[in-house]
Amino acid sequence: MRKATLISLAFFLGICLWTLPSSCGSANASGNGDSELTLLMRKMEKHMQTVRKKVEKGNAKIDVPDWNEIYTAPSSKSEMDTITFKSFAYALLKSAENLENASQEEQPKVYKALVDVCMTCHTAMCPGPKVRIKKLYLPN
Ligand code: HEC
Repeated sequence: MRKATLISLAFFLGICLWTLPSSCGSANASGNGDSELTLLMRKMEKHMQTVRKKVEKGNAKIDVPDWNEIYTAPSSKSEMDTITFKSFAYALLKSAENLENASQEEQPKVYKALVDVCMTCHTAMCPGPKVRIKKLYLPN
């Protein structure tokens, strides 16, 4: 199944990158000088918080805004402009699409798969925000 393939691809890449030194811009409290990618990430995080509530309540149509900017938004580190980053980005956009198309019963599972993509890319490239991303998971 396509979704499963994407997730395992992202997971595989995550393992490959496990040993590389990972670095990315740290949160800047003043909000000045943050990269465009950082600003997009904050928007995604915020949106995911509202999606999480909808999925928890159930019975709602999920919309995910266009996050295509993820491919082009400059990051604080030039090494983000890699095929690896782009593969994770692709997995993210596909998972977001899957969530929009998911049936009511599928939503919790597909939502979790989307958060997993956030986590996988972050494990590989930018572990700092994982503490924040973890909060997006639904309670068990
Ligand atoms: C393709 C890889 C990738 C994916 C997928 C990804 N991120 Fe990120 N994220 C990054 C990178 C790289 C940065 C650091 C940006 C920089 O330093 O310019 C970042 C930064 C962040 C930050 C820190 C922002 C700040 O205030 O400093 C948060 C929060 C975040 N991401 C949340 C998420 C969430 C939620 C998702 C899933 C919806 C997600 N990310 C998916 C790569 C990714």
